[in-house]
Parts: sequence; structure tokens; C-alpha cells
Amino acid sequence: MSEQEAESWVAHHPPDGGSCYRVVMWQQGAVDHRHLTAWKAARAGYVERMQQAGLRGTRGALAREREELQAYNASISSEAFAFRTRAQDVRTGGMREALRADAGVLGYKLGNGAAEVWLELSGEVGVDFHVQSWQAAAPKVTWSSDLIVEQLTAADAAEWQKAHRSTEEPIEAGAEGSAPFRHISVLLQETAGALQAAPGKVMVDATLGGGGHSEKLLQAGAMVWGIDQDPMARIATRYRLAHYGEQLRVLAGNFREIAKLLREHGVDSVDGVLADLGVSSPQVDTASRGFSFLAEGPLDMRMNPNQPRSAADVVNEASEKELADILWQYGEERASRVIARRIVQQREHEPITTTTQLANIICSVLPRRGKQHPATRSFQALRIAVNDELAALDELLVGGLSILRSGGRMAVITFHSLEDRKVKQFFERVTRPEIDRPEWAQPRPNPEYKARSVTRKPITPSEAELSANPRSRSAKLRVIEKI
Ligand SMILES: C[S@@+](CC[C@H](N)C(=O)[O-])C[C@H]1O[C@@H](n2cnc3c(N)ncnc32)[C@H](O)[C@@H]1O
Repeated sequence: MSEQEAESWVAHHPPDGGSCYRVVMWQQGAVDHRHLTAWKAARAGYVERMQQAGLRGTRGALAREREELQAYNASISSEAFAFRTRAQDVRTGGMREALRADAGVLGYKLGNGAAEVWLELSGEVGVDFHVQSWQAAAPKVTWSSDLIVEQLTAADAAEWQKAHRSTEEPIEAGAEGSAPFRHISVLLQETAGALQAAPGKVMVDATLGGGGHSEKLLQAGAMVWGIDQDPMARIATRYRLAHYGEQLRVLAGNFREIAKLLREHGVDSVDGVLADLGVSSPQVDTASRGFSFLAEGPLDMRMNPNQPRSAADVVNEASEKELADILWQYGEERASRVIARRIVQQREHEPITTTTQLANIICSVLPRRGKQHPATRSFQALRIAVNDELAALDELLVGGLSILRSGGRMAVITFHSLEDRKVKQFFERVTRPEIDRPEWAQPRPNPEYKARSVTRKPITPSEAELSANPRSRSAKLRVIEKI
């Protein structure tokens, strides 16, 4: 493939004031190793001279050194882009999709042997984090560990976008990966209505995701603190809702620490807490996040990619009994023991590192019955275990209620029976004025009584919502109000 044939794509948003970089990565073998060795030695020399020039304040010398290094970088990247023989096409796998779903990406150029990306950092994570997530999306490509990373001015990045916008592919609505972070919010009107957002009110969206629910609260005039443990969600939504300025504050963290996170920002109490549990569509649909058994990707499943233990770690390291317990307790999988045994047998031959490898192991012991894929329950179970979802939910419920002001409301949307049972039982516990036991002569006041129930029965999606968004089918909304 020649350089002219490489494809370019430009994001809709311009740089937003963060630091911008040009990153070039290539597959192993795309650049002659003698050329690479010479480049690395020269780079070290340039960097040192640039530092000295910087210390002396000799701007002219600094600029000259930088220009020379950039010219050298350009020769390496053109060699990588011109690479043909034995090339694995870097455009395969989910590379395009991962780049387009990354809200920090201002644009990219993809060729046979190399990828060049214009990136803006939001301050949340570094260049390495982005590079790892893009490379994970093309697991078949053996990436060189060498990279070109050049800092750019925002003006240069905007200039590049302008120059390449004409080559941008048309974006079809709903096309895979074409709309960054597209998540259809569930029970949107119902949740916003229940939370009674209004000017002067302060709300916490404990599961910011694509920000659909937050946006409704912002539109009603409330100030919103949005929490998410996924940096991709935070970056994307911060961009998308940037026009709300300080009315939306985005916080990195786990909602199990909701009270602490807010206290660190001087907030002791709020008028509303919202949690729309589970994963977002971009998490599931981005193969490199490893949540889906339908797409080949690394077996990851971490909502917070900085957390140490991935699904592959669990699958390869847990004992057979631990695996069976996870599948049974979190997936209600009746074949939990058989699947756990087969996993342990298989991992003795080779580690289980991809989603399809695990899905195939499950399918080999579990015949397909009905519409549901045999791996559905096991993948749900692993996801819950990897992200410690049920224990985090327990802490969210207690913490969320503790920061509500009197008259404030907490709305929780669940997607499966394990979550819903927890929310239902917690809400029942805190809304009961009295408790009665057979051994007591009369009912006694409930020391946990703190709220009244707003939804006697859970609210579920309407027929219209179900047909527009089938992923809403198991959603249940429950709401309480603090007394
Ligand atoms: C269903 S999505 C929320 C979608 C959002 N309501 C919207 O309208 O776009 C759930 C989000 O919650 C986040 N999340 C799940 N568990 C979390 C936890 N324990 N702490 C922080 N964020 C969490 C996920 O990363 C995901 O982005």
C-alpha cells in the first residue's frame, strides 16, 4: 500500500485546549531495524540538545533541533506507511472503531503497516493509556514497541483537521463506530421526572456514561456531578456536554465512594442521586474492551481499565471451585461446574486470552437452546466479578442515601435480577417505619427508617421504548425520597 492509499478520518470536534500530540505506531518489521537504531540514537541526541537549548533559553537552537527531529520522525513514519510485504493490515479488527470511539482522537490516518493519530489529552490519562486501548483493538497485529510521539500546538492540530476534512468519509447514522460514545439512555423521561430536577438543585449522576440522563437534568436547570469509573465515558461526555460549562462537573471514581468523592469537592448533601447500572453500549460494542462474546477481543471486561484484575486474570488464575461459584452466583448458570472444569482443562494447554476463545469453550460444553447465546450468563457473571458490581452497589445505596437532603430523591435503574433484588430489599429496609417480629409483643420503630417509597412497583419501559431500544427490555426503575 502506498501512502496515498492510506485512509484518513477527522473527528467533528476541534481541539478543546488540552495538550495535543501526533502519535505514529507501526507493526513490527515495518521499519528496517538499522534505520530504527539510528533514529533512536539520533532521537536521544536531539532530546538532550533540546534540553540544553531549553535551559540556556536559546529558542532558535531549540526550534532547529525540534525541526530536525520532526524530519527524522517523518522519514520513519513514511517508511512504516509504505510497508507492504508480510503486512497484517492494521485496519483490521476494531482499530477504526476504537479510534473513533475515543473522544480524545482528533483524527487518524491508517495504512497497511502503520497508524498515525492526532490526539488531545483531557488530563485524565496519558498518551500510553490511549495507545494501549487502540492497539488492543487490533490484537492480530504485532505492534512495534517503538513509537513516535510529538507534541503539537492546538493550532497545528486544528490545521491538520482542516486540511484533511475534505477526505472524511461520510458518517452514516448508526454505522458501527461512526458516532463516538453512542448510548441510548433508558427510561429517560421517567427518571428525569422522578428526580424533579430544577434550577438551584444539585444532583449526582453516579453512572455518567454517555451523559443522556445527566443532560436531561442539566436541561431542567440542575447542577450535576457526574461520576464514572470509565475514562472513555468521562472524556466523551465531557466533550459532548462541554457547553454546560461548570453546570456539569465530571468526577473520576467508583460510585461505591460517592459520599467521599463529593466531600472532596466540598459537597455534603444533594437533592438527587441517580444510578443507571451496568455497562454502556460503547463498552459492550467496542471489541477491545472485551465485554462481548460476539466480537473477537482481549478478555478484559474492566470498566475501569486501570484496575489491576481483568477477566483473563480471573479465568486463568481462579480455582475451578471459584470459577464455578462466580458462574453460579453472578450468572445463575446451571452448567457452572461443567464450564469451570472445561476452562481449567483448556487453560492447561494455553492461556485463555480472548473473548472468542472463552465463548468457544462455553459453546463446546453447552449446546445452544432457544434465542440466548450459551455464553450470555457466563459473560455476565465474569463481568460482575471483575468489576465487583454487587458489593459496589451495596455501598452506593448506603452512600447515596446518606448524602441526600430531606426531600431529595434517589432513582436506581437495574438490568438483572441480582441487582434488582438488592435495590428492592434496600429500599424496603429503609422505607419501613416499623419492624415486627413474631417474638415481639408489638412492632418497634425501624432504626434504618429514612425514606418513603415513590414507586410502589418498579417502572419499566413502555412498548414504544422497547421497540426503539431492545436493550431496555430488562430495565427497572425504583425511586425513594428521603424524609
Ligand atoms: C448504563 S451506563 C450509563 C448510561 C448513562 N445513564 C447515559 O444515559 O448515557 C453505566 C455507566 O456506569 C459506569 N459504572 C458502572 N459501575 C460503576 C461504578 N461502580 N462506579 C462508577 N461508574 C460505574 C459505567 O462505566 C458506565 O459508563
